[in-house]
Amino acid sequence: MIRKCLFPVAGYGTRFLPATKSMPKEMLPIVNKPLVQYGVEESIEAGLKQIALVTGRGKRAIADHFDISFELENQIAGTSKESYLTSIRKVLSEGTFMMTRQREMKGLGHAILTGESLVGNEAFGVILSDDLCVNPGEDGVMAQMVKLYNQFRCSIVAIQEVPMENIEKYGVIAGDDMGGGLYRVKDMVEKPKAEDAPSNLAVIGRYILTPDIFDILRDTPPGKNGEIQLTDALMTQAQNGCVLAYKFQGRRFDCGSVPGFIEATNYVYENIYQDGQG
Ligand code: UTP
Repeated sequence: MIRKCLFPVAGYGTRFLPATKSMPKEMLPIVNKPLVQYGVEESIEAGLKQIALVTGRGKRAIADHFDISFELENQIAGTSKESYLTSIRKVLSEGTFMMTRQREMKGLGHAILTGESLVGNEAFGVILSDDLCVNPGEDGVMAQMVKLYNQFRCSIVAIQEVPMENIEKYGVIAGDDMGGGLYRVKDMVEKPKAEDAPSNLAVIGRYILTPDIFDILRDTPPGKNGEIQLTDALMTQAQNGCVLAYKFQGRRFDCGSVPGFIEATNYVYENIYQDGQG
């Protein structure tokens, strides 16, 4: 059974400067809720209630967000504004929170390896909260992936089809189609040029990883951009055993980019947000 979910939240968020100069990208709100809280809610809904945050310098606001603010609680208790705290109170009562720091930004693979001390020797989820995933009224993406993990017991990456002109922003897979949106990964490339991409199936920010990934990451040399790439480690895992890719149900917004962030804001405002509810 998977209990833990890792949130690498140490990145600089340069695409959102100057907003992210002193505020973590993951605290940018989609309407009235920070991005990272959407991710944590998706994790808890999937039964992954132990939240492991890999943070960095300047990310204290994230730690404070997942803690009780006694002053605020005291101020708002019994007033008409109390409903604004509903969702964060639920998250705090259901989840437990652990933190460690990534001291140097050496890439997503390195951030995940930094989380080893929090995860230990068990399979775990990974959510990149700048990818906002929604599937209103149905299982969230992490819950869908947990069901698959319980059946197949190997690492799983979430994928979606993207236009070839955007493919070089993503890790891209090629694999054997097993039906039902599942592929057995045969090839995986980080941010390929369109002409070198093995398919149009792009990896997005949801993973379930088996703990052997840590040893593989330790032995993975820096790849693209001099960073330790999770994609390279997953390719090794696929060659040694099995990695599945899953075309999830629902929608995903790239909130690490300004257009994706605006699209998500409009979608959530029109379809999910309820006035007077936090
Ligand atoms: P990104 O490259 O999309 O995020 O990394 P970024 O670096 O924060 O954004 P830009 O490109 O400068 O605007 C994907 C995810 O991996 C985390 C980021 O926080 C983000 O959630 N990450 C990346 C780390 O935690 N550590 C790293 O060394 C690199």
